[in-house]
Amino acid sequence: MPTPKIVNLIPPHGGTLINRVLTGEAREEAAERAAHLEAIILNDLNLADLEMIAGGSLSPLTGYMERADYESVVHHMRLANGLPWTIPVTLAVSTEQASRIRVGQEVALVERREDGERRLAILEVHDKYEYNREVEAQHVFRTTETAHPGVARLYRQGEVLLGGPIWLIEWPYRAQHEFADLRYTPEQTRSLFVERGWRRIVGFQTRNPIHRAHEYIQKTALEIVDGLLLHPLVGETKADDVPAVTRVESYKAILAAYYPASRVLLGVFPAAMRYAGPREAVFHAIARKNFGCTHFIVGRDHAGVGKYYGTYDAHLIFDEFTSQEIGIIPLFFEHTFYCRKCGAVVSSKTCPHDKADHLILSGTQVRELLARGEMLPVEFTRPEVSRILMAGVQRRVAEGA
Ligand code: ADX
Repeated sequence: MPTPKIVNLIPPHGGTLINRVLTGEAREEAAERAAHLEAIILNDLNLADLEMIAGGSLSPLTGYMERADYESVVHHMRLANGLPWTIPVTLAVSTEQASRIRVGQEVALVERREDGERRLAILEVHDKYEYNREVEAQHVFRTTETAHPGVARLYRQGEVLLGGPIWLIEWPYRAQHEFADLRYTPEQTRSLFVERGWRRIVGFQTRNPIHRAHEYIQKTALEIVDGLLLHPLVGETKADDVPAVTRVESYKAILAAYYPASRVLLGVFPAAMRYAGPREAVFHAIARKNFGCTHFIVGRDHAGVGKYYGTYDAHLIFDEFTSQEIGIIPLFFEHTFYCRKCGAVVSSKTCPHDKADHLILSGTQVRELLARGEMLPVEFTRPEVSRILMAGVQRRVAEGA
């Protein structure tokens, strides 16, 4: 009999990996009950949160936040029990719908698609409360401008929040049909890490294709740990971000060509982007701890958008917490780029040369090059990735997107 590998995994946030997925008779009973309950239609953000709560990615959350947690998270970046938590995970409904719902009752959480509606979960309504969107926006996003995509989404949602634990009856459509082979739950990534004998694992969040700067920071981190969890976010992103399908195709290509398979696990992170910069960096780190990562990469303007956050605000925010209460170790990277004189990807920490020697392309420049059918410079992006991105851009142009 082979000797089992002894691996001490990092404890999940709050100590227990949450699982709110019903099975067997309990699931059948819940499905019958749900059929007669008030239906709440979930948006893409709610659906992603539902999937993550149910599967344990957002441990210790067992549902959408009640007022005490919500207020504490908005104002103090902690749950009511003091545990660090930086992003509200809430369920908003209209005042009109809220008036039909009483605290103590159950409601059905519903996914509506063109082909019909499915009752995915039951929410036990423990709390129903009003909140101030401007206050939330200012604290969480550091702005109330609706040009910020996270603020715009917040301002579109209903006026009343419902809080309480959920029970999942059926996974959302995306969980069942999109990247199903890469959609590991925290329990699954944890057992894969054990199987591979990895003790120290670095998580990498991304909503972009892997450019050479990303590859550099991943591989630098990999030098000091056992494995890399490449964990692209595949929930809702803003319209001008590269679509997840194209990105995932490019991740597979770059992994096959430039990374040792025995050291990297590609899995997808179901979250929707909030673009909350520093606060989202902590949220991303804590979620990756739940997936079993011991380290987490935070680079330049993590989860940022426009000019709303300082380049290293997502590093500084970690000073608000002790390393013990965060648990996962953040690995901070400065802005990295290719330097023609160094002939390598560098940062201001490692390169003495002038800006003129540095190859830095903005997202807009990248899109323009690809739209014109030009390959990105190889110092910026691997050709395997360029080709896939270009095909993606051309497909979207052909579709009139
Ligand atoms: S994010 O919204 O998911 O943060 P992105 O996919 O661009 O966007 O970044 C993934 C991770 O790489 C983040 O931690 C980000 O800070 C980091 N990063 C991206 N580009 C660079 C760069 N040129 N130098 C250093 N870090 C970077």
